[in-house]
Amino acid sequence: MSLDCLFSRSRHFAGKRLHLGICGSVACYRLTDVLRALRLMDVHVSVTLTAGARQFVTPLLFEALGAMPVYGEMFAPGEDPFAHLEPGQHAQAMLVAPASADALSRLAQGAASDMLSAQALAFEGPLLLAPAMNPRMWRHPATQANVATLRERGARLILPDCGRAACGDEGQGRLAPVEELFWHALRALSPQDMAGRRVLVTLGPTREPWDGVRYWSNPSSGQMGGALALAAWLRGAEVTAVCGPGCPALPSEIRRTEVLTARDMFAAAAEVWPDMHLGCFTAAVADFSPEPYGPDKFKKEGAQDGFSVRFLTNPDILATLSARRLPGQKTLGFAAETAPDMEALMALARAKRARKDADLLAGNRVNGEGSGFGSPTNSMAVTDRNGHEEIWPQQAKSDVAWELLSWLLRL
Ligand code: PMT
Repeated sequence: MSLDCLFSRSRHFAGKRLHLGICGSVACYRLTDVLRALRLMDVHVSVTLTAGARQFVTPLLFEALGAMPVYGEMFAPGEDPFAHLEPGQHAQAMLVAPASADALSRLAQGAASDMLSAQALAFEGPLLLAPAMNPRMWRHPATQANVATLRERGARLILPDCGRAACGDEGQGRLAPVEELFWHALRALSPQDMAGRRVLVTLGPTREPWDGVRYWSNPSSGQMGGALALAAWLRGAEVTAVCGPGCPALPSEIRRTEVLTARDMFAAAAEVWPDMHLGCFTAAVADFSPEPYGPDKFKKEGAQDGFSVRFLTNPDILATLSARRLPGQKTLGFAAETAPDMEALMALARAKRARKDADLLAGNRVNGEGSGFGSPTNSMAVTDRNGHEEIWPQQAKSDVAWELLSWLLRL
């Protein structure tokens, strides 16, 4: 996992605490990446290593990466006699990963015979379980019945991946990707103030083909839209992401549609829009596409110096879907502008919001350092339909996304 994946720069989680229960599995070591990513965000992480986990990794590994405390045996000499209750008093969420078949069985039974099961029993916050085991053990009706019981009681499952297990068997049983664990951990630490909302996000560039090998596009990386999709999902929304080419990875629970051209993006967004509550139109959509030359490569031999290509106008997705708003639907638009300063940017954002009739519009300077295309940060001039305006200093796109969604919810 890259420690620089979406949301790893957010300041929203600083000071929160996650308790991590680690069971015996070859995949144990992968939790060090999740721990490091959370520590970089100033999330406090405590750990319990089961007896099985301690065969694979040592407490020192997790202590050295900033976990505190790291629990082991229940009755270890010098251990706080109430250590089995402590995470339930101070952590806001608990993640058991890798969750072994044995751990799932003990949690389903409500056992309290070891430190991890006792801590889970005394934990009332959100419980996440990321199983990892041999595919035959995962398929076994006993394991599936334990999973069903835990789900019924409110535990969230981060399902194992399919592939080749460490033992060589093929099937479902591999620990989910660490990015998924990281995002689910953040979700468990997030307010669920967008639960029940359906959110559409367009993101990334569009690519308008000209001949068999060339196209017209722009440098959008999809980070700003990805941050919005992820922030809405973290806060409990059901998210549909319509992605241009090259957009970042998103949680598997986000419904993702890949498109290439502005017309494809328009069709995909228009199809789902009537069912949405909020629309965030972050994509850098090509306003024009070159009139197609055809499927073959245009050869420079024999071409005139300074030849012309005709451009055709694409549909405006934000303006069209804003005009089709149903009662209660709200739209957020962006404006990518070159402007000498933030006041000039605000004037452009104000005019664009009115022209496209968006409820909220966020202007970003694409000619400044640390803002706009490809940057992990953005400086914004934000204006809404009620005439309320704010200029935001440079901050992580994840934090910009969080604030924009909060503003949309208030409108
Ligand atoms: O992807 P990143 O690298 O993170 O960069 C983020 C960003 C700079 C792409 C993003 O913050 C941004 O500004 N997105 C909008 C880019 C853009 O196309 O701006 P615009 O001023 O041309 O369009 C205004 C609005 O209309 C945008 O909401 C855009 O999505 C929408 N639009 C534009 C044209 C079109 N045919 N259909 C649209 O929906």
